[in-house]
Amino acid sequence: MGCQSNNATPPSPAIAPGAEAIDPRAAARAARIDPRIPALIPGFDAPFFQAGLAGYSDAAMRLVARRHGCPCCVTEALLDRTLLSNGRGFDKADLGDLCDNVPGAEDDHPLIGQIMGSDPDTMAAAAVKMIEQGARPPRHYRDLAEGLTPAGDVAPSARTFAAIDVNLACPVKKIAKKARGGHWLREPQGAIDILRAVREALPPHIPTTVKLRRGSDDSPEAERNFMRIFDALYELGYAWATVHGRTVEQKYVGPSRWTFLRELTRSRPDRLIFGSGDVWTAHDVFRMLEYTGVHAVSVARGCIGDPWVFRQARDLMAGREPAPPTLAEQRDVLLEHFALSVAVNGEALASRLMRKFGVRFAEHHPRAELVRPRFIRVESIDDWRAVLDEHYAEHAAAAV
Ligand SMILES: Cc1cc2nc3c(=O)[nH]c(=O)nc-3n(C[C@H](O)[C@H](O)[C@H](O)COP(=O)(O)O)c2cc1C
Repeated sequence: MGCQSNNATPPSPAIAPGAEAIDPRAAARAARIDPRIPALIPGFDAPFFQAGLAGYSDAAMRLVARRHGCPCCVTEALLDRTLLSNGRGFDKADLGDLCDNVPGAEDDHPLIGQIMGSDPDTMAAAAVKMIEQGARPPRHYRDLAEGLTPAGDVAPSARTFAAIDVNLACPVKKIAKKARGGHWLREPQGAIDILRAVREALPPHIPTTVKLRRGSDDSPEAERNFMRIFDALYELGYAWATVHGRTVEQKYVGPSRWTFLRELTRSRPDRLIFGSGDVWTAHDVFRMLEYTGVHAVSVARGCIGDPWVFRQARDLMAGREPAPPTLAEQRDVLLEHFALSVAVNGEALASRLMRKFGVRFAEHHPRAELVRPRFIRVESIDDWRAVLDEHYAEHAAAAV
């Protein structure tokens, strides 16, 4: 849960005056993927993707999303030092699980690996290790982080990440006074040093991207810092930036400012820019595309317990009316997600993790208020099946 913080806020409408007049169906039919995106990441064939979501977006969630039409996923933010120490020596609760960040299976592609940290050399070593999937002895990467050896030839493994994303967005507070994530937005030169080190450490054909917020706060200085980092990242060779329209100070509370994204795309028309914040439905995907002019939309809290958002977005693009999931479809996905989570996390952890997904999946059920408390009490796969038998079976469907 490295990047989790006060996320229990209900859906908020973005700051986007006039967006209500947009017809999402027409916008979806007109939507296209910018050809520069699949040229960089083959398979990324639609203008939306699943965001990194610490504590949620493990291989199980990603595979379910992909089976519903999600064209690309990002891992949660992995701390560089966690990666270099093979996940040992750090508090898991703060730093995220290493296993959540490795490609989950042959069909967990394309997958963008996200890293976060405080030091340019350590970030560069972590990026190299991620792309190589740890092919060299662990000490080599640690030496690299200490600046003791040059990177040498980076040899991407066959099953690796499609790109490396640098997180300059996470609002979780600084550790030991060292900036990381979104806190770099207050120190633009430090952010640029990290971006340069990561870019230079990787071979040119491995794309690098950045996730950042629209500023550390609402001050003019924060906006100047943002613009300095934003312009520098493209000059350094980064392919795109995903901009979350909230400030670091806001964490996840209050609206995302789509007007900021719109001004940004207008002022930098040649840049590939992705947008994030307040995308709750498939309609929102196309409202954001149309309103802001971004090239792709990050689906974050909106796809927790709702993988159908991706199918619906594809339906809208094809001119089909999107259908809500039937109870039978919900049952199938609830079983599938749990089984995948057991495979990734083991049954005990999966049972705990799946409770919070169950709460969100329950929102699709006609008797959400009955189903939700049942998911919260699940302790095993048998408990999970019992909820499904009781509330998602055909006779349950007939009773609602
Ligand atoms: C629980 C939680 C964990 C998150 N973890 C990450 C993360 O690891 N990496 C990242 O880039 N963004 C992370 N985010 C931010 C989301 O990707 C997204 O930018 C943000 O939630 C705004 O989009 P939304 O309002 O549509 O949810 C996280 C958000 C939440 C709520």
